[in-house]
Amino acid sequence: MLNILSPSILAADFKNLEHDIKAAESGGAKWLHIDVMDGMFVPAISFGMCVQESIRPCTDMFFDTHLMIMDPIRYIREFAELGSNGITVHEEACPDVRAALKMIRDCGCRAGLSINPGTPVEKLESHLEDVDMILMMSVEPGSGGQKYLPQSTDRIRQVSRMIKTSSRSIDLEVDGGIRLSNVKEVLDAGANVIVAGSAVFHGDIKANTEDFVRILNGE
Ligand code: DX5
Ligand code: ZN
Repeated sequence: MLNILSPSILAADFKNLEHDIKAAESGGAKWLHIDVMDGMFVPAISFGMCVQESIRPCTDMFFDTHLMIMDPIRYIREFAELGSNGITVHEEACPDVRAALKMIRDCGCRAGLSINPGTPVEKLESHLEDVDMILMMSVEPGSGGQKYLPQSTDRIRQVSRMIKTSSRSIDLEVDGGIRLSNVKEVLDAGANVIVAGSAVFHGDIKANTEDFVRILNGE
């Protein structure tokens, strides 16, 4: 699978979103990670449809929408219509995981399923047919700038093996606490889509993106 960087705009400067998105794009990022939080599934409220709608015309990047919201099926169609290319829901937040994943695909998006650090990886097993991507949280969801949880590396390895055994083509995305210093460990464990928020958007965005892309390209 191709390695992909998905910079999270949660760490961008909200008064200059277009500038920050274009800086990441000019550094070589092809995806943009959009963290939607509802104040229920996670304590924080980030942003929602209006922001995604406003930034859609800024770029052709792949919109990787991460819904940290309860019962997300309620909002899948709307996000798809507002330009998501992929939509990820949480296993812990869906009363009917299969229905939510089906809805995402029916809306023409790639379907992602995420699990929190405390959720057993076995919970993913029965959904492999229905997903295009698995998103492993490597911090508790809810805020940027946290420290990578070291036990994540083993969990990524387990899920990577699970995907290989299934012989399905499923992207493995990891989200939380990833920086230049530990991205290689995450890639070596089997991840191929890397979310980075503060490590991209704090400081020189273009240079940070280029540094990540170089590592992801194996240079
Ligand atoms: C956390 C979000 C992450 C976050 C990552 O709940 O899902 O996408 O923005 O931020 P960093 O890379 O700063 O840990
Ligand atoms: Zn995220």
